[in-house]
Amino acid sequence: MTFRHDVLTTDGDTSWFVRDRFGMFIHWGLYALPARHEWIRHNEKIASEDYDRRYFGRFDPDLYDPKLWADAAAGAGMKYYVVTTKHHEGFCLWDSKLTDYKATNTPAKRDLLRPLVDAMRAKGLRTGLYHSLLDWHHPDYVIDPHIGPYRESPDRAKLNEGRDQQRYADYLHGQVRELLTQYGDVDVLWFDFSYPKADGSGKGRADWRSEELLALVRKLAPKIILDDRLDIPHGWDVKTPEQFSPLKWPTHEGRKVVWEACQTLSGSWGYHRDEATWRSSDELIRTLIHSVARGGNLLLNVGPTGRGEIDERALSRLSDIGRWMKRHARSIYGCTQVPDGFPAPPNGCDYTWNPETNRLYVHVLEWPYKQLVLPGLAGRVEYAQLLNDASELPMRGLEDWQKHWSDTVGGPDCLFVNLPADKPAGVAVPVVECWVKA
Ligand code: GLC
Repeated sequence: MTFRHDVLTTDGDTSWFVRDRFGMFIHWGLYALPARHEWIRHNEKIASEDYDRRYFGRFDPDLYDPKLWADAAAGAGMKYYVVTTKHHEGFCLWDSKLTDYKATNTPAKRDLLRPLVDAMRAKGLRTGLYHSLLDWHHPDYVIDPHIGPYRESPDRAKLNEGRDQQRYADYLHGQVRELLTQYGDVDVLWFDFSYPKADGSGKGRADWRSEELLALVRKLAPKIILDDRLDIPHGWDVKTPEQFSPLKWPTHEGRKVVWEACQTLSGSWGYHRDEATWRSSDELIRTLIHSVARGGNLLLNVGPTGRGEIDERALSRLSDIGRWMKRHARSIYGCTQVPDGFPAPPNGCDYTWNPETNRLYVHVLEWPYKQLVLPGLAGRVEYAQLLNDASELPMRGLEDWQKHWSDTVGGPDCLFVNLPADKPAGVAVPVVECWVKA
């Protein structure tokens, strides 16, 4: 029985995506220099001329070595990445012919995207490009009252004189064409984001000419995986819950969808020197498990510094995750939510399921006393082992002396898996691998 969930099929090729499960988000731009969030221009209402005077001429990532970034991603067990080609600030990492506002014209003096794409490909990671629909720098981008450094400016009407949003949309489409034709096969395109308002004061499909943009993307890269932020109800391939972990498999019109939680290590997407809200490695591992156990992916973000390095706080977490993935990737890659109707896990556990091998992976989030009690699985598991060292775990059903306790230990059909007294040393989340009878 190779049970597969009935997931909504879309235009993009998501077959590798739902197998690989784990990617690196990379937010890198001029905002790495102020080092206090990628929305700093909006947050502190910094005018373009001030921002550029302070940062454009000082963006000099002299320690940038994308091979090290690729090593860190691959070492963490990540199989794809999504990098900001341009964030809301409008600064472009690549040598776009459509603007001077690009890395080539900073002290970096080169296209910073190409060496990253090459390095990641050399490590076997698939290419994902994030591209901001917003652009707080472009002279034709119409200033609205909701988002951006000038949103509350009393001179907003004057600032908008001569601006032509459709000319900006031409620029947007032209840059997407550059990105999809000059960097080889692109596997994921991640637009961010639309904020339509009932009174038309926000920005959405008309401001980006989203239907036309979608047609361009599908013409240039028919099987690319496209996210869901163009403000059009169709054409997307992946839903993108952000900064939270869905409690159940997200659906669209009643059908399960391909989805990917994107989350940060600390709260900020861009490099933030003083942020103290860094998540623990164990919690990040549990978050990855949580996504796969509900049929989804995790896109975990790093924000490299203005010197071009992924900072030690991020590297240490990626290394911890990689240590866990070295022995437990089998419970992540190629896995998904257990089949509908499969018994739910007991408290303190999360299940993932490999439909090709019929193997159940019991992620033990809280190490229990002596045994796991798995409801509904008595007689359905042929063999069980600890995944980290492949050591066998004895199993049994309810014993006679326990029968009168039946309803208090999960019912007569629960499976007891005997565990060693101590949690396996150095294993953030122990996993029991179970061969389930077909
Ligand atoms: C939000 C943030 C943006 C970030 C994106 C990543 O839209 O505002 O800065 O790039 O999330 O999903």
